[in-house]
Amino acid sequence: MAALSLHAAQAEPADLLGTRALRAVEEWRSRVGLDRSHRSGSDEFPFEEVVAHYRSVGRGGANPALVTELRDLHGAVQSAAPAEEGDRGAPLLAGWLRLTFDQEGGDYHTYVGTHLYDAMREQAQEDKGDVLSDTIMAALAVDLLSIEAAALAVEPSRGQRTRVRTAYQLLGSMDALAPSWALEFKGEASPLAPPNDLVGDEALAAAVSQAVSAAADRIPWPVRRLVENTMLPVTRLHDEQMFIRSIQVFEGLYVHVGRCLERAISALGSGDTEGGCAELTDAAERLEAVPALFRVLTTMPREAFAVIRDNTHGRSAVQSTSYRRVEALSAPPTPGNPQSPLPGTEGETLQEVFERQTPWLPRRDVVRFEDTMRRLDAGWHKSKRTHWGITLKVIGSVPGTGGTSGADYLKQTAEVPLFPGLAAGTPGA
Ligand code: HEM
Repeated sequence: MAALSLHAAQAEPADLLGTRALRAVEEWRSRVGLDRSHRSGSDEFPFEEVVAHYRSVGRGGANPALVTELRDLHGAVQSAAPAEEGDRGAPLLAGWLRLTFDQEGGDYHTYVGTHLYDAMREQAQEDKGDVLSDTIMAALAVDLLSIEAAALAVEPSRGQRTRVRTAYQLLGSMDALAPSWALEFKGEASPLAPPNDLVGDEALAAAVSQAVSAAADRIPWPVRRLVENTMLPVTRLHDEQMFIRSIQVFEGLYVHVGRCLERAISALGSGDTEGGCAELTDAAERLEAVPALFRVLTTMPREAFAVIRDNTHGRSAVQSTSYRRVEALSAPPTPGNPQSPLPGTEGETLQEVFERQTPWLPRRDVVRFEDTMRRLDAGWHKSKRTHWGITLKVIGSVPGTGGTSGADYLKQTAEVPLFPGLAAGTPGA
């Protein structure tokens, strides 16, 4: 039998029933009033109580009266008159509430909270965008490690020990997966877990606790709060929490790779091959660090995923816009690709700009740019192959929650290159 999460196993009756959350929401509502959901009102919303209930019982088991209240509140917050000084918290609250009543008709985005992460990233100043987005990834990795270490402390097992070690290594990989965050504290004592041989649970727990508290100090409160609030599992299983955090880290990565592609398109379009190569190298280096993330995901037990899968129909990552965007920015859709194309993508793809610019650029630059595109393609391909392999191991050949044939579909899409024009031989070849 798959293990319960600590929240589910140790919840107080008021959190299991949802009465603490319901009372807190009602109190909040009567305090702030619906027609003046001013900023401090949104900030003081009892997120913690609601999240504690959802983590104890899963979205499917949430108190129906609370769900109705949250749905109603969503409508009210959305239509509330904006406060005079502008309420930046209200749209965020409305966006978050949307996750709490999606039991019917919810999708991948309401499962993961992608719109909340997008909204936070959009708030960053242009030059701080990568730092914020990398800080979010690090915060997710820190939280994952804390959850896993807490579970090991309560119920030590071989499988859980492996999970903690992989999560610890994932935090150590943040200097490659989220380098802008790691650079922020260059020269100071690093909270990134060192790759060492930790013998015994005590040594592991001490190293984890040191790494987590040092890393947490470098994560601003709004990011921590976003991470905490977007852990709204659909089941009571411990493994689903790892699944959600893994998806959220991957989403951060897809968003970043998409950004690098956009910037590479613009640089190459103006003849700046150097700048374009730097962007593609940044994306490729991150993809090359992805095995650390897959090592965590491979610890997913089949029986636990079977339960998660049963509860996540219609919520497949096949709906991920950021993932689709990476492919849509790279090259025009290839005939025979089983993926549905991303609607609303405009402008030239990187492959098209490359083909257009090739005759005008020095041969040396063309070769270098093409090599970097190939490097990115290789990283993307490897990541898709690994995902296919894990899927085969975890669910075998049953269909996916997104309505595809499952592993067979992934095997097929894994072989579609990011830049098919290069595979066929480009002007630079
Ligand atoms: C044990 C874990 C996982 C299993 C068994 C699994 C399984 C699947 C399956 C069967 C599909 C096919 C689409 C469908 O019908 O649902 C799929 C698609 C996809 N999955 Fe996963 N998945 C896992 C973890 C993840 C994670 C953590 C991510 C990170 C975001 C992810 C990202 C994707 C993406 C982007 C697609 C679409 C691929 C495409 O269209 O080419 N998966 N997954």
